[in-house]
Amino acid sequence: MPLLTKAVKGTADVLPGESYKWQYLERVLLDICRFFGFREIRFPVFEHTELFFRSVGETTDVVQKEMYTFEDKGGRSITLRPEGTAGAIRAILEHGLLNTALPLKVCYFVSCYRYEKPQSGRYREFHQFGVEMVGSPMPRADVEVISLARKSLDMLSLKSVELEINSIGCKKCRAEYHKALYEYFSGKDDLCGTCKGRLNRNPMRILDCKSPVCSEIAAGAPAILDYLCEDCAAHFHEVKKGLDDLKIEYKVNPRIVRGLDYYNRTVFEFVSKDAGAQGTVCGGGRYDGLIEELGGAPTPSLGFAMGLERVLMVMEKQGVCFPEPEGCDVYVASIGDRAARKALEIADKLREEGFFAECDTMGRSLKAQMKHADKIGARFTVVLGDEEIDKGRVVIKGMRDKSEMETELCDIADALYRLRADRDLDEIAKGIDIDSMGLDIRGIMEKRT
Ligand code: HAM
Repeated sequence: MPLLTKAVKGTADVLPGESYKWQYLERVLLDICRFFGFREIRFPVFEHTELFFRSVGETTDVVQKEMYTFEDKGGRSITLRPEGTAGAIRAILEHGLLNTALPLKVCYFVSCYRYEKPQSGRYREFHQFGVEMVGSPMPRADVEVISLARKSLDMLSLKSVELEINSIGCKKCRAEYHKALYEYFSGKDDLCGTCKGRLNRNPMRILDCKSPVCSEIAAGAPAILDYLCEDCAAHFHEVKKGLDDLKIEYKVNPRIVRGLDYYNRTVFEFVSKDAGAQGTVCGGGRYDGLIEELGGAPTPSLGFAMGLERVLMVMEKQGVCFPEPEGCDVYVASIGDRAARKALEIADKLREEGFFAECDTMGRSLKAQMKHADKIGARFTVVLGDEEIDKGRVVIKGMRDKSEMETELCDIADALYRLRADRDLDEIAKGIDIDSMGLDIRGIMEKRT
């Protein structure tokens, strides 16, 4: 296929027939965020490269192997964000949001870019829904953030997504742990070149190297949980107790270290067998040192991000129903130029009244217009000709039940309200959940009485 009409490897298009699923995800997730007090933040798709060096970490796979970095025309080194936390925190610092009420709770939907080997559930452009909670060192903040992730996945009806947690301690306990890792990995000649370089600088990064040989060697490495200092162990204990209180099930997985350098203490992942080769639908944790690292006052914080492609993949595999958007309410067909102009005017008015109205913009014959109305699933049609305009009356036809109702031209909207409400009542009687179809039943009933 010629390059011009082929998407770049590792990227995907969301076509009109699928976009409602993304809109549904965003609606549900934003609603849950509202209940938890998280408000949306938006920030640029690219940042100064240095930001990711300092936050994600120079020895991580993301920075060493996966970033889309380029020089802009002004000679600046720019990077397409590989994740959302760095940009969100940069924006919070730049705009002085730490001076507002703490904890500061933000959420975001972002596209991210990583030059990884594409496979099922792994893309080069992907999308994250993320949250950051800034300002609290308390274990109960960890519990609240994990609970938000759990509820999000539950509300989207994902099944069998398991929560795994770990603590990777603080700088103090990690010093001992690094020594143990250094001892373990020294002399393991089969490590990849990158990991050999990491041995002195940051041996923990070897634990999440994607090379199968390194992963196999890493499987036998000492676990951080055995090296936690008293404070970190107590923090982890409280987090587990809080999760128990909220009846959130989890498994402690001492192998979770996360692939980004900013984490400390609690780290967690939600994993599913249905999320492609990768399995991790959502990952997050504490990053108490990041804000200071970026020049702000020490401010303990934490968050998570979920990969929306993976969430969708799990939902599709598990047969979750996405509420489909409402189809066309009424198609205003026309015969001749005068009627076509009037049809446009009527459709315009009907839209102001809250109807999804269509009319002919292609110059089709009446027969072709009716065929099109059928194709787009219009519920009702109105046919306008000179006679209808002169008499000021039209017939509204039900496309499914073949019903007919004559009405004044100026009353089409009211007649449609009545017809739509009748149909909705029928569907309620048949037990169809019209609320989940996105209908404003309360509005319809009010109009009716
Ligand atoms: P992360 O684990 O690198 O964490 O990414 C979060 C989620 O993004 C993953 O669990 C996965 O679902 C999805 N994801 C990552 N890479 C890809 C990819 N190549 N293709 C498709 N999906 C992918 C972070 O990004 C942190 N910023 C999360 C965080 C927020 N921690 C604290 N606050």
